[in-house]
Amino acid sequence: MEKMNCAWILMVVAMLVAGNQAAEITLSKYGAKADGKSDDSTALLNAWKDACNAVGGSKLVIPKGTYMLGPVKFSGPCQGPMIIQAMGATFLAPADPAKFNGQNGWVLFHILNNFQLLGGTFDGKGQTAWQKNDWKGESCLKSGKCSSIPINLSFYKITNSLVQGTTSVDSKQFHMNLLHCENLTLNQVSIKAPADSSNTDGIHIGRSNHINITNTNIQTGDDCISLGDGSQEVDITKVRCGPGHGIAIGSLGRYNNEEEVRGIRVRNCTLTNTMYGLRLKTWPSAPQPGVARDLNFEDIIMNNVSTPILIDQEYCPHNQCNMKTPSKIKISDVTFKNVRGTSASNVAMKLQCSKGNPCQNVKLADINLEYRGTNGTATSECGNIQPTTSGKLFPPPCAVKSA
Ligand SMILES: *[C@@H]1O[C@H](CO)[C@@H](O)[C@H](O)[C@H]1NC(C)=O
Ligand SMILES: *[C@@H]1O[C@H](CO)[C@@H](O)[C@H](O)[C@H]1NC(C)=O
Ligand SMILES: *[C@@H]1O[C@H](CO)[C@@H](O)[C@H](O)[C@H]1NC(C)=O
Ligand SMILES: *[C@@H]1O[C@H](CO)[C@@H](O)[C@H](O)[C@H]1NC(C)=O
Ligand SMILES: *[C@@H]1O[C@H](CO)[C@@H](O)[C@H](O)[C@H]1NC(C)=O
Ligand SMILES: *[C@@H]1O[C@H](CO)[C@@H](O)[C@H](O)[C@H]1NC(C)=O
Repeated sequence: MEKMNCAWILMVVAMLVAGNQAAEITLSKYGAKADGKSDDSTALLNAWKDACNAVGGSKLVIPKGTYMLGPVKFSGPCQGPMIIQAMGATFLAPADPAKFNGQNGWVLFHILNNFQLLGGTFDGKGQTAWQKNDWKGESCLKSGKCSSIPINLSFYKITNSLVQGTTSVDSKQFHMNLLHCENLTLNQVSIKAPADSSNTDGIHIGRSNHINITNTNIQTGDDCISLGDGSQEVDITKVRCGPGHGIAIGSLGRYNNEEEVRGIRVRNCTLTNTMYGLRLKTWPSAPQPGVARDLNFEDIIMNNVSTPILIDQEYCPHNQCNMKTPSKIKISDVTFKNVRGTSASNVAMKLQCSKGNPCQNVKLADINLEYRGTNGTATSECGNIQPTTSGKLFPPPCAVKSA
């Protein structure tokens, strides 16, 4: 009896010690070559398996080096908190999209709680894929019809987690895709793709809440950050965007069963040479009513942005919708405050709301957007909106209701 008690206590002590000191697992011991040519996927997945199964959590250390990586999936749930430490490591995707065998993404992080990805450069080798993305001989960029190619870093059901100091270059499509995530911070992330690459949104968020993107630099060919349906309580601060298409909410209203977008705060961001700045886009003829509310944009600098402020409820690229049915997405409680800088086109602010669902409670405060080109001075265009205004406003918005 006494012996058993003693053994039991020893076991508990051992478990506590193990719990406090997360196991450290080094990739080198798993036969990774890190020569940039040999496929290191198996080594990495084996190391991940051991790390994930370590009771009390663990840290997987990936030493400096260049790792060729096929499509891989880091799946949880794990036995404890997980850290992947990859400072100085570069991961190369196979250049040929055919290598992906239908996996809808390149590096997938799935179902992890208390996870940290620290550092790491993910090179999607997109140059070849951007050409192969054309559909039936039509340019994907021009027609919007793109054959689907495997892509990106996917974060699916990642909770209470951190991605920090990670870089994504030349992704084959969206760079980072967050779906069903909660309490996730992206800090000091860097994203880079050429301005003319197709559909390379920097960070796409959908059906996720309490997401924090900060100190991040995005240069790409499409939206720097796009917030799809179900994005809720998202803080975007100190993000630099450009080239690219700016920071966008939407597009919304294209599909059935879309979830509400709410609680979006974009603050202290700088947009440079982008096609749009802050953009809300919804499709006409939405299959169902929808809601986007409590959207706040504050302390934003625009450098030569083509349309710095845009609400577009007639978003219908490539005539894929019926323009006669107004958008059913209700936009309300929106603030644009202290947005200043230069517009590359004379229409610096365009607020085109839905005829069927006019925008409600839109506040404009301290807007100063100059146009220095040859087509007159900066102007604004509006429809189905009566914004409340305060402070200095240039260009003056149409149909103002003073606060
Ligand atoms: C990658 O992005 C595309 C959008 O281009 C998205 O449809 C797809 O689900 C994403 N894949 C993953 C694995 O995140
Ligand atoms: C997210 O964080 C909040 C506040 O700390 C917490 O209440 C909630 O349970 C967390 N969500 C998940 C999925 O762990
Ligand atoms: C976002 O994350 C940064 C860096 O971890 C942190 O300093 C900041 O407080 C967070 N902001 C919010 C709103 O959670
Ligand atoms: C933007 O940053 C400045 C300087 O750090 C700070 O004073 C200001 O409060 C920030 N704005 C917002 C909306 O957080
Ligand atoms: C400003 O933007 C326009 C249109 O995007 C571009 O053609 C021009 O080169 C940009 N100017 C500067 C100074 O970057
Ligand atoms: C000049 O501005 C008007 C609207 O104010 C616009 O319709 C026209 O396309 C602009 N021209 C050029 C060359 O940008």
